[in-house]
Amino acid sequence: MTNEELLRLGEGAAKNSYCKYSHFSVGAALLAKDGRVFTGCNIENGSYSLTICAERTAIFKAVSEGCTEFSAIAIAGGADGDFTQACYPCGACLQVMSEFCGGSFRVVLTDGEHTLDELMPNRFSL
Ligand code: THU
Repeated sequence: MTNEELLRLGEGAAKNSYCKYSHFSVGAALLAKDGRVFTGCNIENGSYSLTICAERTAIFKAVSEGCTEFSAIAIAGGADGDFTQACYPCGACLQVMSEFCGGSFRVVLTDGEHTLDELMPNRFSL
């Protein structure tokens, strides 16, 4: 699975985005070490703080299926479905990634590949 292929799956996942309040759709495609791909989209709620990001949807889907080892995630998002600008993951999603992934975990965006270490160098851990 190439980064480009994973990014295309992330873009595809954004089609199911439920973003009636922000009109900012996000899709994520999470590549597991066993080769499986879990996709996710952002799902908003009228009680705004209950909204879940695309990345966490994908991660929670995977973990709930018993899959906890990951090598990369691709993320695409933008206002009104315009994905030209890179959509960086929020701090909450980076923290959730850090629960399951090491510093070399790859985060694939439209501007290229990053690592968890690069995006969140000092992470909380128990
Ligand atoms: N969003 C994500 O899906 N992922 C992120 O990393 C940051 C933000 C969503 C949440 C909300 O539905 C919309 O983008 C605007 O904040």
